[in-house]
Amino acid sequence: MESIGRLAGGVAHDFNNMLSVIIGYTDLIMESVDARDPLQKDLAEILAAAQHSADITRQLLTFARKQNIAPRVLDLNETVSDTLKMLRRLIGEDIELIWLPGDHVWPVQMDPSQVDQILANLCVNARDAIEEVGKITIETGNATFDAAYCADHDGFFPGDYVLLAVSDDGCGMDKDTLDNAFEPFFTTKEVGKGTGLGLATVYGIVKQNNGFINIYSEPQQGTTIRIYISRCNEPSEKRVTVPGIDIPTGHGETILVVEDEKTNLQLIVRMLEILGYTVLDASSPQRALALAEEYGNNIDLLLTDVVMPEMNGRDLSAHLQSFRPELQTLFMSGYTANVIAHHGVLDKDVHFIQKPFSKADLAAKVYNILADRPAMQVQSM
Ligand SMILES: Nc1ncnc2c1ncn2[C@@H]1O[C@H](COP(=O)(O)OP(=O)(O)OP(=O)(O)O)[C@@H](O)[C@H]1O
Ligand SMILES: [Mg+2]
Repeated sequence: MESIGRLAGGVAHDFNNMLSVIIGYTDLIMESVDARDPLQKDLAEILAAAQHSADITRQLLTFARKQNIAPRVLDLNETVSDTLKMLRRLIGEDIELIWLPGDHVWPVQMDPSQVDQILANLCVNARDAIEEVGKITIETGNATFDAAYCADHDGFFPGDYVLLAVSDDGCGMDKDTLDNAFEPFFTTKEVGKGTGLGLATVYGIVKQNNGFINIYSEPQQGTTIRIYISRCNEPSEKRVTVPGIDIPTGHGETILVVEDEKTNLQLIVRMLEILGYTVLDASSPQRALALAEEYGNNIDLLLTDVVMPEMNGRDLSAHLQSFRPELQTLFMSGYTANVIAHHGVLDKDVHFIQKPFSKADLAAKVYNILADRPAMQVQSM
């Protein structure tokens, strides 16, 4: 199992890199092709297929525990609430989805996309177990296990946990299914319907977060899956989200874009304008310095290529910062971040985006830098 995981993970990793190139370039082409051009439809098909492949790859990577995860302190009630809409769409209209958030649920530390993945897998399984009409219940709560309890329950460890449970009133599992349910590639579904990776993925995620998972199920009695995640003692972090929009947008903040490759410069300018930013564009560092002199204090962010003739991006950034220390820079390059790293390490406060990037990648980077920046001081350049 270990070696299958490693193999799957290795392939998925390479695959993922290729897919991000396909997605990135398709995105860029779509930006440069006229919106009414019939090519747009074909490109959208490529993008959708690549994104679907990226989703499958992500599933494989989590299964192989190789996905880069970004754990943060979460309020599970908040994370679950956010996914309800997506889950309702997954399970269809004939099945009722009941959400029972626990009171004062303790924080946990995990990657919110892993919570989504757990819920999506468990709800799809529950949906498949329900013949026509039925209900699925999602619950959260707190649970404390003491040493005596753990002595009686195999696999439990004493401590404070947050419970996430998904129950259904579907067909339930017989003993053989129950014994094998977490096995990768174990499925009772017909060919083409299930890959048998759903519960194996959930199991992997739970283990990765030092939690445990139990199934209670009997034929015709439905199924309850309980997941316990270790309590985190820090308060949950405030979320930075823009209500109602998936891609965060700007509010007219001014970005100075410096890129010597003209077509690329045009595409980036278009992306940023669509995202709601005001853009000053420079096709050379000299031009950038002239614009900075003119607009100085109005520039909120410098987005610059790293390798350029005349002056490299790093020197340009340092030069502008000597007048305006608070000015943040986002470097972009087709090379890896190493091109701007000292001894292989990126300085704190150095932001980097690897080319090619999609509009969504750029949107997220720019939005986060602007949201986190220290208050700017007004100063003349
Ligand atoms: N809620 C449930 N009720 C009844 N049986 C279930 C339930 N959840 C899982 N099972 C059984 O466990 C098996 C394995 O589930 P798992 O999610 O790992 O794979 P799958 O659903 O068959 O395929 P995949 O999730 O990869 O599409 C299922 O085929 C099914 O027999
Ligand atoms: Mg499944």
